[in-house]
Amino acid sequence: MIVAIDGPAGAGKSTIALNVAQELGFQLIDTGAIYRTVGLKATQMGLDINDGPACAQLAADLDFEFKIVDGKNHIICNGETLGQEIRTPDMSRAASIVSAHPEVRQALLNIQRELGRARDSVLEGRDIGTVVFPDADVKVFLTASDTERAQRRVLQLGEQGAAANYEDILADIRERDARDSSRSAAPLKQADDAVAIDSTEFGIDEVVAKVVSLVPGR
Ligand code: DC
Repeated sequence: MIVAIDGPAGAGKSTIALNVAQELGFQLIDTGAIYRTVGLKATQMGLDINDGPACAQLAADLDFEFKIVDGKNHIICNGETLGQEIRTPDMSRAASIVSAHPEVRQALLNIQRELGRARDSVLEGRDIGTVVFPDADVKVFLTASDTERAQRRVLQLGEQGAAANYEDILADIRERDARDSSRSAAPLKQADDAVAIDSTEFGIDEVVAKVVSLVPGR
């Protein structure tokens, strides 16, 4: 069983996907974390993140696993559990850049499919319902306005004690949206048969219940 949850950065995908995966007892494949890890490893190795073929070669050689422990989803790359180091603003940019290379997307396509076929899975990303699993059992496209997403991000950073400037964050979100939607390889777009949910209109529990209710047999 494959549940695909796509949408732009900051629409609440991670929270919704984690809750859905826990409720269903499925693994959660955070595909953004995979792109972030490729960006991190490339940076650590001194590779040029603008070099598509080199980044694709690296991506193909990495091994990924996901595990939910104590209510948190962890990405494990080559046996090493990664944490906040893939969530820095630099790694958000690096992930956005490496993910625009068609060679990288191709290399990660098989990896994502193998991971998803191994177990019942929730996959969150941008192109799960359109490219990675076009036959997914459930497809959800989660949205929220860019201003709402920027406000949430400011609150989240504030809770972490980090300084956050609303205008900078909004500009950053708009820049990433534009890059993710305009790239030629698997741009961010809603699958024709995806159910669109605007997370601005509903609470987390309501969205989770709605997604779970779409799963056959639920
Ligand atoms: O969801 P996220 O912010 O962790 O994603 C990081 C970057 O990776 C983001 O710029 C979009 C890209 N991405 C992608 O192109 N395709 C996916 N399936 C998931 C993420």
